[in-house]
Formats: sequence, C-alpha cells, structure tokens
Amino acid sequence: MAEPTPTTDHPIGAPGDFPDGVGVAVTVAGLDLLVVRDGEAFHALSNRCPHKGARFALDGPGEARGADSTTDSMTADPPAATTADARCRLTADGDEKTVACPWHGLPFDVETGACPVPRFGLGTFEVVADGDVVSVRL
Ligand code: FES
Repeated sequence: MAEPTPTTDHPIGAPGDFPDGVGVAVTVAGLDLLVVRDGEAFHALSNRCPHKGARFALDGPGEARGADSTTDSMTADPPAATTADARCRLTADGDEKTVACPWHGLPFDVETGACPVPRFGLGTFEVVADGDVVSVRL
C-alpha cells in the first residue's frame, strides 16, 4: 500500500481578507488560485478558465480592483473584466453554488470545479480555516 502524500498548509490570509461570495486571487507555491468564501467555508480552484484562459479574479486579499488594473491580468481583454462590478462572484441556485467566468460566462461548481461542458472542469484545492489563518493545503 502506498504511503499517503505529505501535505503542507500554505497560509493565504485571515478570514476577514476574503469577502463573502467574492472571488479573490492568491498565488500559492506558484499556482494561480481563485479563493471563494461562502460563509464559514472556503473554496479554492484554478484561477484560469480552461476555455480561453481568462482569470476569474484579478485581486489579492484586501485589494480593491480599479478599472485600470486589468492590462497584465488577462490573456486577452475581455470587456466584462474591465470594471470592479465584473468581479467573480458566487452564485447560488438551490444547492448548486457556482462562479462564472467573467469573459464568456461558463459556470463552475465551487466545490468540485465541474462545468456543464465536461472537458472544461477546473482543478480544486483544499482550504482550511484555523482561527485567524486561512491556508491552502497542497
Ligand atoms: S474564457 Fe472563460 S468562458 Fe471563455
């Protein structure tokens, strides 16, 4: 039987750094991740849309995105991502909670990364909140 792979918790901030329902970009061990807070739960997914590579969130914890801060953050210039109102947000439809890509709108389940277009599923990562520290476990 194989030994379990060791994991490391990578601190990314305090719970208050993550506004409820708003996607926040964090870099962990070289990975560009989208962290979404849903009340007391935190989710982490790849921050790159598998369709055309748009980033779901542009800001890190505690940052406010302005209309002029998108130029180096997208692989192209999706118009929906040029205003603060276009931030990636959590949407609830019954038990299903998704985030939508700001470019073409594909939805992704925040827990599983699943997409209605199966080949576009996102990678997900475990997030642990322990007191005042939120960490991504890799
Ligand atoms: S780049 Fe995300 S849906 Fe097209």
